[in-house]
Amino acid sequence: MDRVLRIGLLGCGTVGGGVVTLLAREAEDIAVRTGARLEVGRIGVRDVAKARARGLPVDDGVFTDDVMSVVEDPDIDVVVEVMGGLEPADTLIRRALELKKPVVTANKELVAHTGPELYEAARAAGVDLAYEAAVAGAIPIIRPLKESLAGDRVTRVVGILNGTTNYILTKMAEDGADYATVLADAQALGYAEADPTADVGGHDAAAKCAILASLAFDTVVHGRDVFREGIEGVTATDLRVADRLGYVVKLVGIAGESDDRIGVRVHPVFLPKEHPLASVRDAFNAVYVEAEAAGELMFYGRGAGAMPTASAVVGDVIDVARNLLQTARGAAESVHRAKAIRPIEDLQTQYYVLLDVDDQAGVLADVARTFGDHAVSIAQVWQEGAGDSAQLVLITHRAREGDLQQTVQALAAMANVRSVASVLRVESEVFSS
Ligand code: NAP
Ligand code: HSE
Repeated sequence: MDRVLRIGLLGCGTVGGGVVTLLAREAEDIAVRTGARLEVGRIGVRDVAKARARGLPVDDGVFTDDVMSVVEDPDIDVVVEVMGGLEPADTLIRRALELKKPVVTANKELVAHTGPELYEAARAAGVDLAYEAAVAGAIPIIRPLKESLAGDRVTRVVGILNGTTNYILTKMAEDGADYATVLADAQALGYAEADPTADVGGHDAAAKCAILASLAFDTVVHGRDVFREGIEGVTATDLRVADRLGYVVKLVGIAGESDDRIGVRVHPVFLPKEHPLASVRDAFNAVYVEAEAAGELMFYGRGAGAMPTASAVVGDVIDVARNLLQTARGAAESVHRAKAIRPIEDLQTQYYVLLDVDDQAGVLADVARTFGDHAVSIAQVWQEGAGDSAQLVLITHRAREGDLQQTVQALAAMANVRSVASVLRVESEVFSS
């Protein structure tokens, strides 16, 4: 194979290392499939010595800390951004597109922040911008939404979109593991973001949910539009109560369209054990798509880690390289419908509420009255513990989120309620919109 396309890699950490390894390991087949050999020409990093010490299958001379020089090098044909963060990634990608170089990125934070501007820059330049690895690691979900389901009407997308938090919740629930210890394991395994608060705080899943919602509903949804709660407050008691009632606790992203508005949210939920998403364990991800003609579809696989993510990145590199060789472009995003975001207060679902209370006669009646005063009906209630460790566990019927929030505020102000320990949404098999 005479034809060679040179890749400029921006970042060589967990994902970048996987990309270099995979391109070297599958070089022969990739060349045949692409119609050109794909070589890593330059690699931009922050610390060249650290990158070299990793002993990857590339010459030491390819590394530089001058990242813009990688993009602007006339010998570089395709730019792969796996450094993460908004800047300098945004500037580098825009410059690459300006130079008419196709770009592959795994950067969900950036795509959720400025995706439509980048799509437009790619369109204007006549080259591809591909980001399959940005959502759910190895799982093909961008291409199915953008291309395979283009003739259908998607009504809802529900996903376990973050490997780190799914790993943490699985280990806490199944092994009784301690939150901080499991988070450190997830970091060591290469699942977590450089700043893991992006994972546990739900920011990473919110960015992915925004990208999926944009593609599913042909509109622009930014990461900041997504209602978000993380898993930092989920306790062993919450997991034990969920288990006793036939649920598991999962961090899910839910995007749905109804009444011409988009509901888009990420938070931990009680999910029935029989729901297909409940069996998604460890760092695995899954995306459940409901479409009018296709019905229900589920995409499942490894959502994080070096090689699974590299699989998606290299798949995109081959795709954009093939298009480059034919002076063509792949399918573009459609963002032709302006849609309002539905406020979380309008959500209707069930809730689990855990209260630390004084262990006295009449407290349960006072608590029940507070729920009733705000039109929130109680489905189940019982007491856990006694004396100083007395707690009330309440499961509501479906209620409006705005009413539930007011109830919680009123509960927190009651003299005989020491604290509102937990509030989690309870989703039935059919997710609320
Ligand atoms: P990482 O291990 O922290 O690696 C980041 C790499 O980028 C490092 O090589 C770092 O250089 C380089 N870098 C960062 N900022 C830089 C700057 N300002 N200038 C020059 N180089 C810079 O991160 P990662 O886990 O590979 O993630 C990379 C991207 O993939 C992120 O957007 C992430 O969200 C996304 N992603 C990750 C996964 C996963 O499982 N890890 C899965 C899907 C998507 P040094 O090595 O010198 O520090
Ligand atoms: N930190 C992310 C996760 C990597 O845990 O899912 C994949 O995007």
